[in-house]
Amino acid sequence: MDRRSFLSWVGLGWLASSLPVALAACSNQTASAPPTVTAIGTPSADGFQAVSTVADLDKAGQLMVKDFPGGAVLVVKDAAGVTAVSPTCTHQGCVVTWKGDQKAFVCPCHDAKFAADGKVVAGPATRPLKTFTAKIEGDSVLVKA
Ligand code: FES
Repeated sequence: MDRRSFLSWVGLGWLASSLPVALAACSNQTASAPPTVTAIGTPSADGFQAVSTVADLDKAGQLMVKDFPGGAVLVVKDAAGVTAVSPTCTHQGCVVTWKGDQKAFVCPCHDAKFAADGKVVAGPATRPLKTFTAKIEGDSVLVKA
């Protein structure tokens, strides 16, 4: 076996051994994305709309409501209560997710962090996330448009 053939086989082996790692890294990003739901109610006279059941939110920890009036809303429930924000990062528009262990919304693109109230904790974003008033009534999670 000449040198060129040997290096080709080594390169092919490296590529084959790296592929599962690359695929696992991609699947981990998908696994951390919040489940997407469809709002389940129509807006009431006071502007609140049911977006989920408490049981579904408890199960997932966070839910992405895609069809909310005015754009998607990310709803999170933790010990402090229920929070709803626009998931669009104010830096360059990537979609943030809630990281319960950091108690922050984190952007996967450039690692901006936002507190539960939407305020910037770490840049490069400089503007807060848009927030929505959210509450729980009975078994429903309500967000005000
Ligand atoms: Fe979110 Fe850059 S797009 S930090």
